[in-house]
Amino acid sequence: MDLSRILQLQRTPGVFDLAWGHPDLSLLPVADIKAATLSALERYAGVMLTYGIDRGVGPLRDMVAAQIGQSEGVTPQPSEIMLSAGNSQALSQVAMLYAAPNDVVFVENPTYHLALRILRDLPVRIHPINGDQDGLDVEELGQAIDSYRAAGQQIAFLYTIPTYQNPTGVTLSAARRDALRELQARSGLRIVEDDVYRELWFDEKPLPSLWATFPRGSVIRLGSFSKSLAPGLRIGFITADTATIDRLSGCGLLDSGGGMAHFPAFILAELYSNGSYDRIVATYRQNYAERRNALEKALQPLYAHGYTWQPPHGGYFLWMRLPPTITASSALARIRAKSVDALPATLFSSKPLGYEAIRMAYSLYTPNELSAAGSAIVAALTS
Ligand SMILES: Cc1ncc(COP(=O)(O)O)c(C=O)c1O
Repeated sequence: MDLSRILQLQRTPGVFDLAWGHPDLSLLPVADIKAATLSALERYAGVMLTYGIDRGVGPLRDMVAAQIGQSEGVTPQPSEIMLSAGNSQALSQVAMLYAAPNDVVFVENPTYHLALRILRDLPVRIHPINGDQDGLDVEELGQAIDSYRAAGQQIAFLYTIPTYQNPTGVTLSAARRDALRELQARSGLRIVEDDVYRELWFDEKPLPSLWATFPRGSVIRLGSFSKSLAPGLRIGFITADTATIDRLSGCGLLDSGGGMAHFPAFILAELYSNGSYDRIVATYRQNYAERRNALEKALQPLYAHGYTWQPPHGGYFLWMRLPPTITASSALARIRAKSVDALPATLFSSKPLGYEAIRMAYSLYTPNELSAAGSAIVAALTS
């Protein structure tokens, strides 16, 4: 099969390409999805193949709402949840509806590079806010809000990935969440929470989402099944207050095309109700934790040479800070010479970070392959 004309991922044979934050095809639950698709088609027939209700298939919305209630302690009301075609689509839609030309959109520095691409499609002003091992610098954000407001500048929202961030793997600490909640209360800032990695926790369950813990109306949370099930299904969900869900689900896009992810919603509902979904996510957690362990273990010798990282507790990525003696481009040139690839920090930031780093995804390769890739990186950076 010529995958180069089918997949976004382009793999070079013989290279451990840690640049891609994609799942390993061999982990994707083909048999479960096949069975769920057949059973859903038998049950729903043509209903699955026509235009769907604007906010997405109701029975699945109810199931997702119940699951959120169980895991986060707050159940969205039926009017507070809708389906999306994944977080990329949801972010694009939210930004289109909630950011006017020239508005400021705050992002983390660094942040998910392709969210920057989505935001750069709009005539908005992107303002990166620094972060550290505890996540977003809320004080810096507060100062930026104050100075924009003093200058009469409109602020659209903060786009943030508080749980297992891409690219750093960092989770916003409980204290920073409190500080952000206070800042939100005093400033009225709208927050768009990208929660794509929530289900992929390794060591302990993550803190509840900002949506679950901040006042209603302050947070639009974007959830996705891309990482917990399969990105090819293109399905996710949004939780927010009723007025926001009404606005998002009432927009022209959905009025014309019907609800997002109509067909996959039936498949997912099947997987939820027969218990497969929970089993699949549990398998992912275990597999990706093993992969993280393998890569981290192989990289350990680099600590003695001034390379540092925070062990990721969930998600797909290890973010390695480089010692001041080497730039990301020369580190990448050296590791590429050993047939390993990764991404430079500059891709994820639109203002200087003050340090050099590279992002490595451990999602695509087996633990053995990651051990080999990690050892090759160590050899490249220490020789
Ligand atoms: C932070 C973040 N948001 C969104 C996405 C894309 O999400 P989706 O597949 O739901 O569009 C990714 C995928 O890598 C991501 O890392």
